[in-house]
Amino acid sequence: MNKEELKKWVSVQPKVELHLHIEGSLEPELMMELAKKHSVELPYQSIAEVRQAYDFQDLQSFLDLYYLGASVLIDEDDFYQLMWRYLCQCRADNVVHAEIMFDPQTHTERGIDFSVFMAGFKRAISQAKQEWGQSCLLIMSFLRHLSEESAIDTLKAATPYLSDITAVGLDSSEMGNPPEKFTEVFKMAKALGLKRVAHAGEEGPPAYIWGAVKTLDVHRIDHGVRSIEDPALIEFLVESQHPLTVCPLSNTKLKVFEHMQQHNILTLLDLGLLVTVNADDPSYFGGYLNDNYHALIDNLPIERSQLKQLLINGFKASFLAENLTETWLAEIN
Ligand code: HPA
Ligand code: ZN
Repeated sequence: MNKEELKKWVSVQPKVELHLHIEGSLEPELMMELAKKHSVELPYQSIAEVRQAYDFQDLQSFLDLYYLGASVLIDEDDFYQLMWRYLCQCRADNVVHAEIMFDPQTHTERGIDFSVFMAGFKRAISQAKQEWGQSCLLIMSFLRHLSEESAIDTLKAATPYLSDITAVGLDSSEMGNPPEKFTEVFKMAKALGLKRVAHAGEEGPPAYIWGAVKTLDVHRIDHGVRSIEDPALIEFLVESQHPLTVCPLSNTKLKVFEHMQQHNILTLLDLGLLVTVNADDPSYFGGYLNDNYHALIDNLPIERSQLKQLLINGFKASFLAENLTETWLAEIN
C-alpha cells in the first residue's frame, strides 16, 4: 500500500483513544461562541487570531492558553456542547471507544461545581451511546501544579460521581511536580477502586516514569517518550507491558521533538513497548486521532503491520472488558 492507501485504510479501522483532554478539544469556533454568550473577555478578535496564537515553545506556553480557553466553559450546556462535539468526531474517525480525561480543578477553581460539568458530560455521553452506540469512560485528572491537598479535596468532591469515573490521572506542568507529590491521593483513589494513569516523561525525566509506576501504581503512562533515555526503564516497560499513550502531533507542537521525522514512536514499538497513538489536545495541536495516524504515515517509514500493531495496542491498553476487546480486535483487518 502507498501512503494515501495506508491513510484511507487506517481511517476506517476501529480505534480507541486513551489520551484525550476534553478541555483540549475546545475548538476556536465554540470558544468564541461561548465567550460571546457569557461576555468573557478573550485576547482574540477572531477565530483566525485564536489559531494564530497556537504557536507553542513548550508545555507551559500551551497550558497558559489551554486554561485561558477553558474559562469560557461556564454552564451545563457548555460542557454538553464540548463533549458532544468531541463524541461526534469520534464517530467520524471511527473511534469506537474513548477514555476521556477532564480536569475538575480547571473548573472548580473558577467556582464551577462538579454538578455542572458532570451533568453536561453525562448528557452528551448518554446521547452518543443511544444514537450510535458510542463507548466511552471518564478519567478525572489532577492538576500537578496545584497541591496534593487540592487533589484530595477534588477526590472528595467527586464522591457522588464516582460511579461515572473509571480512573484518576495526573496532568499539567510536569517539571518540578514529580509523581511522588501525589502519593497519598493515588493511594486513596486505589482504595476506592479507581484505576490510575499519569502523564510522565513528556518533558520530565525517566525518573518521573519510574515514580508513576512504582509510587502511584499506574496502569498506563501518558506520553512516556523520554523512557528511551533509560535502558533499565525500557527493559522494565517491555517486561511489564505498561502501555504508553503517545501523542505525535502534541509532541511536535510542544517541541518534545523538533519534527515528526524525529519522533521515536517506531523505535519504542520495535523495542516491544505497548505503544498507542492518541490526540491529547486536538484543537490546540492540529488534529484528531486520524490526523495523528496520518502524520505518522506522512513522516515516518511506517508499515501497515506497524499501524496494525498500534491499533491493536490501543484496545489492549484500554480499560475495556476482555470480551469486548476481543470482539473489536476481530474487526481490524
Ligand atoms: N501535558 C500535560 N498536561 C496537559 C496536557 C499535556 O499534554 N494537555 C492538557 N493538560
Ligand atoms: Zn495529555
